[in-house]
Amino acid sequence: MASKIVDVHTHVYPPQYVSILKTRSKVPYVRDTVPGQPSRLIILPGEDDPSSESTAKGRPIGPEYYDINKKIKFMNTHGIDISVISLANPWLDFLDRDEAKGLARDVNDAINSMCDAHPGRLFAFGALPLSAPSEVIVEEIHRLPSLKYTRGIIMGTSGLGNGLDDPELDPVYQALEQENLTIFLHPHYGLPKEVFGPRGADYGHVLPLALGFPLETTIAVTRMILSGVFDRFPKLSVLLAHSGGTLPFLAGRLESCILHDAHYSGPEAKVESRRSVWDILKTNILLDAVVYSELGVRAAATASGADRVLFGTDHPFFPPLEGAEGEEEQKWLSVTTNYKAIGDAFGPDKEQAEAVLGGNAIRLLRLTTD
Ligand code: URA
Ligand code: ZN
Repeated sequence: MASKIVDVHTHVYPPQYVSILKTRSKVPYVRDTVPGQPSRLIILPGEDDPSSESTAKGRPIGPEYYDINKKIKFMNTHGIDISVISLANPWLDFLDRDEAKGLARDVNDAINSMCDAHPGRLFAFGALPLSAPSEVIVEEIHRLPSLKYTRGIIMGTSGLGNGLDDPELDPVYQALEQENLTIFLHPHYGLPKEVFGPRGADYGHVLPLALGFPLETTIAVTRMILSGVFDRFPKLSVLLAHSGGTLPFLAGRLESCILHDAHYSGPEAKVESRRSVWDILKTNILLDAVVYSELGVRAAATASGADRVLFGTDHPFFPPLEGAEGEEEQKWLSVTTNYKAIGDAFGPDKEQAEAVLGGNAIRLLRLTTD
């Protein structure tokens, strides 16, 4: 039997979530524009800043963002057997404390129902009500295993508001570890726009997406490592978006800085039993292969092992620019680039390529139902 292809990085906004975005006038929101033109999705910090002309427009939002049948069509066009769908950014981060619990349940139920409507094709990462009190978050985590297709949760880098090294997150990490739910850690907030300089807006979304996103993820997971999250929760599993940002490349420097810093006071800082960055990369971290180059896939496989790297597409973001005829059947450059990168990275070693394309996801995320 041919081995299966699994996409672990693919997003959806359930219709009730889009309805909420349509009622809002602050980021994140959906704005109806000229009749006959698609609505626009404005989600990134600063995207509606009138001084940043080129990014002020957000992006067009069509049914590929919320209609699950479009996802299935996309999968069929690109030879993808199974997708692990997740709510797209900014998830539930912007909700008031009182709204978060109800919407988390609704969104998680809706995404699980989408999976149910396409048995064998879809699994899911749920979303957490991170603005609610921590008991509410933990309660939702313990409810998730009752949803047949949910295998983990997607979240951003802000945690409860103070980042992922916040000790207040320990009950959340503990519950996730206990329920064997993988965290899909995904960027959204980027870097302060000042780092991109006064001409940053001239370059559209290139600087925030190509550099801001991966660096945000790198910093967030590094803070988790430094604060001892993986020492306290040694079975916690974290899938890093975009091949871990720059973590595979910088892991050696990070480890060296820890070993040479007299003032580093993370837990067990100077104790022999402190878990090294390399050990964490090979035990707790999974890396997606959404990095668009052979070099990036090789770095990910070297850092965490080829048995811990997983194919992804980032659909429906990064569609082809031109709205060509027969668009639905057209293969997306963003997807073919990642397929090629995996093929080139492993060359004649077809087994490793097949593992990255699907076998690893099926094993690590338990993508079977019985
Ligand atoms: N990819 C995402 O997942 N989110 C964005 O906002 C942009 C690209
Ligand atoms: Zn994504």
